Amino acid sequence: MASDAEILGRKNQDDLDEILAVKADYDAVIRVVQNNADTIFSWDYERSRVPLSKLYEKAKTSQWNGTTDLPWETDVDQEQLAAMTPMGDPAMLSAMGIDLTGTPMAKWGKKEWTEIAIHEQNFMLSQFLHGEQGALVCTAKIVETVPWIDAKYYAATQVMDEARHVEVFARYLDEKLNGHFPLNAHLGLLLDDIISDERWDITYLGMQIMVEGLALAAFGLVHAVTPEPLLRQLLRYVMSDEARHVAFGVLSLKEFYEGLTDAELAVRQEFAYEAAVRLRDRLVAAEVWERMGVDPKLAINTMRPPGMSKNDDPFQMMLFSKIVPNLSKLGLLDANKGWLREKFDNIGLTQFETWTDTSIEYELLDAVAQDREAAAAAESA
Ligand SMILES: [Fe+2]
Ligand SMILES: [Fe+2]
Repeated sequence: MASDAEILGRKNQDDLDEILAVKADYDAVIRVVQNNADTIFSWDYERSRVPLSKLYEKAKTSQWNGTTDLPWETDVDQEQLAAMTPMGDPAMLSAMGIDLTGTPMAKWGKKEWTEIAIHEQNFMLSQFLHGEQGALVCTAKIVETVPWIDAKYYAATQVMDEARHVEVFARYLDEKLNGHFPLNAHLGLLLDDIISDERWDITYLGMQIMVEGLALAAFGLVHAVTPEPLLRQLLRYVMSDEARHVAFGVLSLKEFYEGLTDAELAVRQEFAYEAAVRLRDRLVAAEVWERMGVDPKLAINTMRPPGMSKNDDPFQMMLFSKIVPNLSKLGLLDANKGWLREKFDNIGLTQFETWTDTSIEYELLDAVAQDREAAAAAESA
């Protein structure tokens, strides 16, 4: 197996200088990425993959309309929401033991803390938006490259889902928040890798398992803490789709990975590890500090509560709570003498290994079906 230096381009995965040194320019309106995969036709139209067929039927009946199914008339007071986040409330920061002495932030008043909390929200929603476009493009690629007809059918429904997600996040940012951020370099490099790869399963592994697995957990965390009703409903419906998408990845790759050799699985394990580290690096969010004119390295080191490393930040850890059980189900934690399990153990992530995987969980998360059943029951009562 390759070393961290070979996979990540740095010896110590927590090296903040190296993480901050990763730059990529995603400012231009158009970005071109070479797709090296073959387009595959299949003349075998037999519906032989029952779980994928079931998922496809579910996708057809759980479609929703981003224009009419969300309460867009909701007034959103972004300043008030920002003030309720830890970043927007200096008293909360000092209760966490964060000491600002000697930093530019020591002189900040309510205005600056609200301002950075607003940037933080804009940054987070912008990365959700760009990630959704990544999913749109990657899933269109799967339609072309996967050799199975049932998977082409399902992927086609996901393309529609992702268009709707891009649409609603873009509208939310434009109408309810007040500023975009460009694609983060770490997330962008991961999307570039996924799109340029010539192997069809790597699109699934990078997008459905890693990026969408993290997104599903992130949407769930934001949904749990935000009081804003429009964003809550938007996330509930997006998560209902995302759970199906992650399940699509698990169900497809489970079959394919059972037939791979140890050497072939090693490549997938290394890819999953690199993707996990890139997704963690993305969370550093240096851009938010740069907007405030503060050196990100100083800020990030200052804002970490005393005694807390990256590996015991509960919020960051929870973001991997969907990815790890799914990788386990695919056999990628066990393969090659448990290489990936050991890597994840070092960053504290194996605690999620036995959590429910998404190929089982997705039906519980179908908020669209739940709302329709409730509406039908109310009507007949
Ligand atoms: Fe999505
Ligand atoms: Fe998705």
